[in-house]
Amino acid sequence: MFGKLMGYQKENSTVLLEYENSLGKLVMISDQIIRVYGKLTTVERISAAVEDLDSLLEHTEFSVEWEDGKVKVTTDSLVIYAADEFKLDIYDKEGNPLCLDYRKERTAKEAASEADKLLMEQEGHQTEEEKSYAFEIVKKKNGNEKFYGLGDKTGFLNKDHYSYEMWNTDNPAPQVDNFQRLYKSIPFFLVLGNAMPYGIFMDNTFRSCFNMGEESREYYYFAAEQGDLDYYFIAGKALPEVVEGYTRLTGRVKVPQLWTLGYHQSRWSYSTEEEVRELAKKFREYHIPCDVIHLDIDYMERFKVFTWGKENFSDPKKLLADLEKDGYKVVTIIDPGVKVEEGYEVYDEGVEHNYFALDTDGSIYVNEVWPGDAVYPDFGRKEVRDWWGGKQKHLLDMGVRGVWNDMNEPASFRGEIPDDIQFHQEERLTTHGEIHNVYGHYMAEATYQGLAKLDGRRPFVITRACYAGTQKYSTAWTGDNHSIWAHLQMAVPQLCNLGLSGMAFVGTDVGGFGSDVTPELLIRWVQIGCFSPLFRNHSAKGTKAQEPWQFGEEVMNIYRKYVELRYRLLPYFYDAFYETEKKGMPVMRPLVLQYEKDKNTWNLNDEFLAGSSLLVSPVVEQGAEKKLVYLPEGTWYDYWTGEALSGSAYLIKDAPLDVCPVFVKGGAVIPNYPPQEYMGEKQVEELILDVYEGNGSYMHYQEDGVSFAYENGVFNQYAFIQENGKLTIRLVHQGYQECYKGFEIRYKGTVKKVSFEGKELIVHL
Ligand code: GLC
Repeated sequence: MFGKLMGYQKENSTVLLEYENSLGKLVMISDQIIRVYGKLTTVERISAAVEDLDSLLEHTEFSVEWEDGKVKVTTDSLVIYAADEFKLDIYDKEGNPLCLDYRKERTAKEAASEADKLLMEQEGHQTEEEKSYAFEIVKKKNGNEKFYGLGDKTGFLNKDHYSYEMWNTDNPAPQVDNFQRLYKSIPFFLVLGNAMPYGIFMDNTFRSCFNMGEESREYYYFAAEQGDLDYYFIAGKALPEVVEGYTRLTGRVKVPQLWTLGYHQSRWSYSTEEEVRELAKKFREYHIPCDVIHLDIDYMERFKVFTWGKENFSDPKKLLADLEKDGYKVVTIIDPGVKVEEGYEVYDEGVEHNYFALDTDGSIYVNEVWPGDAVYPDFGRKEVRDWWGGKQKHLLDMGVRGVWNDMNEPASFRGEIPDDIQFHQEERLTTHGEIHNVYGHYMAEATYQGLAKLDGRRPFVITRACYAGTQKYSTAWTGDNHSIWAHLQMAVPQLCNLGLSGMAFVGTDVGGFGSDVTPELLIRWVQIGCFSPLFRNHSAKGTKAQEPWQFGEEVMNIYRKYVELRYRLLPYFYDAFYETEKKGMPVMRPLVLQYEKDKNTWNLNDEFLAGSSLLVSPVVEQGAEKKLVYLPEGTWYDYWTGEALSGSAYLIKDAPLDVCPVFVKGGAVIPNYPPQEYMGEKQVEELILDVYEGNGSYMHYQEDGVSFAYENGVFNQYAFIQENGKLTIRLVHQGYQECYKGFEIRYKGTVKKVSFEGKELIVHL
């Protein structure tokens, strides 16, 4: 395809590779991050994910020379050989192979049987014969690779031996391990092999595939139907550096408003004002903390976005104001499909200004979603995003505090939108085939920018569809799961892999969306939900109600215990979000991220770390009251009993229904808030510190939790350093006026209160 390598040129950070048939480019973003670009089309596209590559270029020393007919590029960390046909081989400085292109032919799979073909057709998959790619990047496997990331794919943490497609898909069938695609397309994976770990991010929005050794043990490959060959190779000394590198390119989740970390209650739908008021009353009556109520599609007038059904919600402004007084924030759903109806403002404006996607004959393209016939805003254009962003005013004026973007794959009830429907990427006319995977991303961006401009507070957006980089604009949930144990089991690896793929603010529908939940499943789900970054209970129309009180007092009491735990740990979660903004470290982490040398963590699907010091080992089996737990190296403390346990060991823990096994790392300091039923109910002047024996240090972050002021230094940071039985508390950054007045220190069953005025305090434990 590229032909013979004829020559090269070094230009600033770039090595241009002159091939017989085309051009290649290696861009040194840093000594560990390289962009690999091969020109196959006439347009070099704007990246939706990497918004300003030039500003990310670090000054990188590198040399370029010929060696045995190849161009050899050497940075401080990597040695890259580019050969004929744009084959690449990447080694570390010591000469260990990291990532080598496979030179032999792929062994194509046998054609599927007729029965399999029928099944694939039903599921919307392409058969081998139907697949055709503009390019394939085939990498050699050494047999030791573990693959992580790839967004929200189903199945297990380690993707070795599985294959996936990137094509955002709304498939209501219960998702199983071998599902190839879901709502999100995040073409990024991490590889843990023998030498340095690395990640590959293919920045191509067309339909693509990632075959992680399912086809062969000798190689893995990724390929896209159209577009240019464009990927980033991101090496790191350890996995966290790979995630840091990837999120440097595509952006990071920012510290959100504090209330967004509280508990969210949703259902399709709370559809009358009375129902919503009743719901709000019940939470307070039962003393189950709750900050957010979600309104699903039935609040609208006949599913017309940016309207309110007057019959059921006669005075939404008053309703939302009353709720706000009681500590609730309301989030409303907004879908992209705009109802075709003359006289409906959103439709009329869109038609007048030509904001909707067009059919091949130039007429407005119509498909069907909830409101019936619907048209699709052309979100790839800034003008359309600005228009949509401005529409958020309608919600903000009513008192809405967050926007939930759904159906933005985009979903269509009358068959898939054909690939040739016309969309734009900015001024460039293109097709649905190119925009599909990035449609939800652009919609989230439009919503975020609109809210940021109109509201001034940090926007809270939830989206179902994503592309790489959507984390800059939105949180996400994993879509329509079911109330089945398999989906509880899937929740852990799915959220962990999303976190590794940059989407650190994510959650599943607690209790499950489709099908009927059982009391036991609901409890086991809230035990994971309370440690998930986004903590929302949501369920489908027609399924059994699953609010915390629906199954009697015993279930409610256990449910409350875990929601209360979440509220106590909110400052700890907030600190984890700060780390995400600074370093890209996800809030919910698979153990392998912090313990990659420990092989027991490589395939651990039913445990995770919440932040850096809490290890959660939830029960995910029906009927189980014992749990096999793996603790990595070091001393760990049972969160509930305080018992000290030695790591690098498996143990069997008792886990009756009200117990989710949780462990704290020795030396940890865990900040807690006093009990609250919603964020801001109490002014927290005294922070509670749970101190666990051992040496260690911890950084705590404090700010107003609402505005953008923190970006200008309006925050405080406290270092808590535990050393040989002494705890030092030091105010290391002071920018926010409301410093804590004191601390309550809990250590081995003792409680000590200390006041804090100066900058440093030493407490003998
Ligand atoms: C989709 C969403 C779900 C929502 C429903 C109705 O299925 O994934 O969360 O409740 O639409 O809006």
